[in-house]
Amino acid sequence: MSSTLDFEITLTERPTPAADREAILADPGWGMHFTDHMITIRYQEGKGWYDARLEPYGPIPMDPASQVLHYSQELFEGLKAYRQADGSIVTFRPYANAARMNRSAQRMAMPQIPEQLFVDALELLVGTDKDWVPGKEGQSLYLRPFMFATTRALGVNRPADEFLFMVIASPSGLYYPRGIKPVSVWLSQDYVRAAPGGTGEAKTGGNYAASFAGQAEAVANGCDQVVWLDAHEHRWVEEVGSMNLIFVYGEGSSARLLTPALNGALLAGITRDSMLKLAPDLGIPVEEGKISIEEWQEGCESGAISEVFGCGTAAIISPVGRAKGTDREWTIGTGEPGPVSMRLREELIGIQYGTKPDPYGWVH
Ligand code: COI
Repeated sequence: MSSTLDFEITLTERPTPAADREAILADPGWGMHFTDHMITIRYQEGKGWYDARLEPYGPIPMDPASQVLHYSQELFEGLKAYRQADGSIVTFRPYANAARMNRSAQRMAMPQIPEQLFVDALELLVGTDKDWVPGKEGQSLYLRPFMFATTRALGVNRPADEFLFMVIASPSGLYYPRGIKPVSVWLSQDYVRAAPGGTGEAKTGGNYAASFAGQAEAVANGCDQVVWLDAHEHRWVEEVGSMNLIFVYGEGSSARLLTPALNGALLAGITRDSMLKLAPDLGIPVEEGKISIEEWQEGCESGAISEVFGCGTAAIISPVGRAKGTDREWTIGTGEPGPVSMRLREELIGIQYGTKPDPYGWVH
């Protein structure tokens, strides 16, 4: 393997017994089980990336004054490894994740990681723990690269100068236990996820920490997920839960997609980007624009909008069946998964599992 660093490899002396692993893979749930190994790579200002290791999965020693514990200087990524019909394993668009981590790093005053080092780390972990890549429909090995500030200092007058990059891996089934059954969504007026100029387009833990209160409010109002509206007017639709949103106008051969344009507050989802490339090739035009909650409701009531879905790495496509706010509530389409959402989902999943050709060079 060509790499910008040589990894020191320490294999676990206590690998998970095969029978236990198979029991986990039979029903892995989501994000609850982890493979036998992990990657760690250190960074120091002036020295660069060093001390790359593959080691047994386990706790990491942390100084209580590590900056990340106080000021959340942290980033993460998410992507999946898929087992193909012939038993081989691919990852989906890993260089896109590497590039996004570096864009996030710029916003969070954190170091750039060479894209090849990022991908080599993923390959080494997946190759070592290959028996953990499940093979059943809908299953994959979710890969979680992340980076955080380890500098021991409480001052906030400058960013940290020491960081740890890690990768862990988790066999995964469906992100939402209800699968593709449409979710109901709550239009949050009290909480915003992000504002332009903030950290909304960086994949940093703080954005997700700030989302829990809105999510709890959604559940308290009888909904599954929260829809994030713009920070200024609280009427322009931005994201749903931890996913991008896509609206389907029209039906059949006249279907077209609209998704909120990236405005600095939205995360540039890799599944979103894949949809924007895939849909036109299937004859479904796409537009990046703006949509207000009034336009969403009127579009559903007039029949102009036929389907709405969230898209992200974890759930891939998650149809939205009902929307509710403090003063309004409506159903989207039939309230069942729509044909356009399901067609796009099938095409993308087909590329990921190798049952459909990949003209885009996405699988690695
Ligand atoms: C995604 O992959 O859709 C996410 O961002 C979810 C992740 C935070 C669990």
